[in-house]
Amino acid sequence: MQIYLDHSATTPPRPEVIAKMQAVMAEAWGNPSSLHVWGQRSAMAIEVARLQVAQLINAPHPESIIFTAGGTEADNLALLGIARQYETPQHLVISSVEHAAIAEPVRQLEQQGWQVTRLLVNSQGRLNPIDLVAALQSNTVLVSIIYGQSEVGTLQPLAELAHIAKAHRVLVHTDAVQVAGRLPIDVEQLPVDLLSCRPTNSTGPKEAAHCTSGKGWS
Ligand SMILES: Cc1ncc(COP(=O)(O)O)c(C=O)c1O
Repeated sequence: MQIYLDHSATTPPRPEVIAKMQAVMAEAWGNPSSLHVWGQRSAMAIEVARLQVAQLINAPHPESIIFTAGGTEADNLALLGIARQYETPQHLVISSVEHAAIAEPVRQLEQQGWQVTRLLVNSQGRLNPIDLVAALQSNTVLVSIIYGQSEVGTLQPLAELAHIAKAHRVLVHTDAVQVAGRLPIDVEQLPVDLLSCRPTNSTGPKEAAHCTSGKGWS
């Protein structure tokens, strides 16, 4: 007998997920930008999904949910989207245990002159919030911390880290790809500005990940 043990990479979709996807593909195949009934049916399906994602993380403004093609795109959109707000390179803080979806665009920004602090983890793989206090600078514009680590599953003290960053008026992004759908997330309580998640890690389809862009709850 073979046992599938790679749920951090992706999970098998549940039968009800497959049934829902089949129904959507059969009924809501129109171009959602088209005004005719087939297009509007697709547009409606997308908006219902947006509401459901907003409910999952208790986002008060569903319009802040941005759908992307995957977790990497969601992370890149959040990080590079913030970076592009600035004409000159600034400083940002990440952890030393980020997924490549964050580590790689950060490396690119570094090559463009951005300063980067990578917070180290202890022997349990956890960050110490005190280290974030020491890392913040007058030109720090973003703190991006992975919520649940993709290799070993360590949860970071995200609430504490986010409170510290917000107290210094620094934007916070979290890569919650491994957490959303597995543990409850309430962005009304968690002071993050941007959160990336995807359904693949919680028995959803591989094609539809999403980034929630946060001005709505910052
Ligand atoms: C924490 C984390 N972030 C980002 C990604 C990238 O997601 P995707 O493979 O959908 O691009 C993954 C993928 O496993 C992940 O575990």
